[in-house]
Amino acid sequence: MLEALRIGMLGFGTVGRGVADLLLNHPDLLANRAGIPLRLVRIATRNPERDRGLALGSVEVTGNVHRVVDATDLDVVVELIGGIIPTRDLVHRALESGKHVITANKALIAEYGPDLFALAHSKGVQLGIEAAVAGAVPIIKTLRESLAGNRIDSVYGILNGTCNYILTEMRAKGLPFARVLADAQAKGFAEADPSFDIDGIDAAHKLAILSAIAFGTPLDYGRILKEGIRHVSETDIAWANEMGYRIKLLAMSRLREGLMEMTVRPVMVPVGSMVAAVEGVFNAVFVHGDYAGTTMYHGRGAGERPTASAVVADLMDLARDLRAGAKERVPSLSVPVHHLRTLPIQSAAQRQGSFYIRMAVVDRPGVLAEITAILARHAISIDAIHQKGRSPVEAVPLVMVTHESTEERITQALIEIEQLDSVREPPRSIRIEAGLA
Ligand code: HSE
Repeated sequence: MLEALRIGMLGFGTVGRGVADLLLNHPDLLANRAGIPLRLVRIATRNPERDRGLALGSVEVTGNVHRVVDATDLDVVVELIGGIIPTRDLVHRALESGKHVITANKALIAEYGPDLFALAHSKGVQLGIEAAVAGAVPIIKTLRESLAGNRIDSVYGILNGTCNYILTEMRAKGLPFARVLADAQAKGFAEADPSFDIDGIDAAHKLAILSAIAFGTPLDYGRILKEGIRHVSETDIAWANEMGYRIKLLAMSRLREGLMEMTVRPVMVPVGSMVAAVEGVFNAVFVHGDYAGTTMYHGRGAGERPTASAVVADLMDLARDLRAGAKERVPSLSVPVHHLRTLPIQSAAQRQGSFYIRMAVVDRPGVLAEITAILARHAISIDAIHQKGRSPVEAVPLVMVTHESTEERITQALIEIEQLDSVREPPRSIRIEAGLA
């Protein structure tokens, strides 16, 4: 009979501190609910001497990762180092040695998950990933368990708090992207190297994990179409606002007639939608299932305490399963690894929808006629046109909203429009996602 869940931790940064704090703060509550104590035995960190302001008691803090990864007195390794090197090897070794692993590392799971899940399965141990997607938002367990009876046809949402914060600030303060990013970096909301966040990589890692669980497919980060928010201008945000939309970095996976579409990109959503209401650093995930309909999960997607909450949820599941003698009661990706099936991809470029198009044009008679002639040749019908300002010398903005079209046709038309003498900047287009919750 298991007397306690013996925990070793790799990494003692922000999230590691949160996990240690929670475990040390709530021992009775956790033991009462799990049926056995959750005992933090050892933490390996690069800076074992640093004071984290926690009363660690008998918890050993070491600079040697092998004291955790290769230990024989631990049941589970909590990996909170992040990144791929050397984390991938450390997780591999911990699983190989028969220890369960819990990780918040979305990049590791999205890119190397297939091998790690297969290894965990072959060793009969668990690989917990609740903290890898959307921090405190309990979306992994919800998809795997609470919605287990549903055929799921879409999962979408706001999966990167940094981008959502930047877009929210740009709109609220009318500031350009670079200024808001610099401000977010100064306040510590954005990383010094912000590429993972603002180029959509972090959101795509999370979407890869959600898609695999929702649709029973192998993890396939490489097939996600990604576009970040570097090119979203304050002008586009202001136009969106005026037309009743918000610009959001939307991560979306859809399954239609056996074809999957997986995208991370800036889109416009109606101002009255629930997606539009997700502001600042918050994350939200929406799931549509055939019986449940649409459900929404909203909360803090990062940070010390929210992420610790998710890590400890996995520790609790593990403690309960071990106590009950359950082995792989709920597979990490919802179905056993050998039941995962690859599905063909539908290109987002072929999906019908409306588009926002912004051009900078010379203000003279006939310009609109030239542009609409090109759109007509590509069978693109216009829903609304806005032009502001007059200038005989400078370009003025010309904004259009199209009726249903495909992105493929829009892209072709914009290539031709860009060649016109009267068009002064490369035209911009943003998909309008009107059908979201
Ligand atoms: N950097 C992420 C975000 C949190 O901004 O949402 C960790 O994935």
